[in-house]
Amino acid sequence: MSEFDLELVRLSKTYPGGAVAVREFDLQVKQGEFVSFVGPSGCGKTTTLRMIAGLESVTSGHIKIRGEDVTTVPTEKRPTSTIFQNYAIFPHMTVSQNIEFGLKVRNLATNVIDRKVGEILEKLDLSEVASAKEESLSGGQKQRLALARSLVIEPEILLLDEPLGALDANLRKSIQEELKLLQRSLNITFVFVTHAQSEALSLSDRVVVMNAGAVEQISEPLELYTRPQTPFTARFIGSNLIFPGKLQSTAEGNASVHTSTGQFEGIPVFEAGTLSKGADASVVVPSEFVDVTVSSDRQETSSPIGLEGTLIDIDFVGRDAHLSIALKDETPLRLQSDATVMKSRNLVPGEAVDLRWQTNRATVVSGHT
Ligand SMILES: Nc1ncnc2c1ncn2[C@@H]1O[C@H](COP(=O)(O)OP(=O)(O)O)[C@@H](O)[C@H]1O
Ligand SMILES: [Mg+2]
Repeated sequence: MSEFDLELVRLSKTYPGGAVAVREFDLQVKQGEFVSFVGPSGCGKTTTLRMIAGLESVTSGHIKIRGEDVTTVPTEKRPTSTIFQNYAIFPHMTVSQNIEFGLKVRNLATNVIDRKVGEILEKLDLSEVASAKEESLSGGQKQRLALARSLVIEPEILLLDEPLGALDANLRKSIQEELKLLQRSLNITFVFVTHAQSEALSLSDRVVVMNAGAVEQISEPLELYTRPQTPFTARFIGSNLIFPGKLQSTAEGNASVHTSTGQFEGIPVFEAGTLSKGADASVVVPSEFVDVTVSSDRQETSSPIGLEGTLIDIDFVGRDAHLSIALKDETPLRLQSDATVMKSRNLVPGEAVDLRWQTNRATVVSGHT
């Protein structure tokens, strides 16, 4: 028995016609883990999910489920179940009939089917609409029906392809929470595809960031947010200040980087092996770690200034403040910060501002793009 529920080994897909959709994807998922694939449209999320489900052939590499190689096993023989964005609910069938369907094609006895359907209706709070059809269901009920139908066959791995994409923002939030609770209580492995980073970060145990068919980074949400490993991740996840430059030196996990905005010293590096002197490197600073103060309020006792600039604009959006700043060398910066803290700073557009952060909050990553 493998310690992993799902393993992808150099999984690759080239479509007929030559489009390379997935390149050498390596991943190991533990039983009960909630893993998300996140990345821009066209980066290969759906293709990967469909290969795991057995709905798309594999060009090279392997898929293992609980240690067994299923690369060429037909979809109906895999212990997976898939939920697509449009749910694919049968409109002419009732809620119960939709749920029964997957059990009937497996030739289970009627009394077993009835029991399983009853249990899942109860679990997903659908008993009251058991004889309703799709047209009379709310968005949340349709979502739960899609889940019920997938879960009733007791898959080992549930694959979800942007399942919340069709819902409005409020419903989405509450269904996200339900989904997470359900996953915990069932202890089923979830592989969840989304282009929305906030959804991936709030739901997952680990997030896979994909770009142009390849894996950029696999990390826990907080780590992804605070310690991006590539410029792409730094741009795609969260709100980071990114300063491209050249690596000058590294020692004991810290680096000096020369950029057009200035010299950055003693910045943590987490992939020192991949960086050599003179190589392109970027300094990344998550904007929530950046404090902005009015320069004329500067005190001798303040910690060293990171950068100086001019505030161009500040907008308050709920709990966030969005700042637009021009650095001394005119580099434009956008940063997102805590609204309450920024209100207390009395920042006025046109004024000179200081930007500060703790050196160890920044990260050096290899490359510029
Ligand atoms: N059936 C197909 N035939 C040819 N190319 C495809 C097919 N499906 C997807 N692609 C291409 O493969 C790439 C990855 O697509 P997809 O896996 O759907 O990405 P995502 O789900 O991340 O948006 C894209 O360039 C897309 O155009
Ligand atoms: Mg897709």
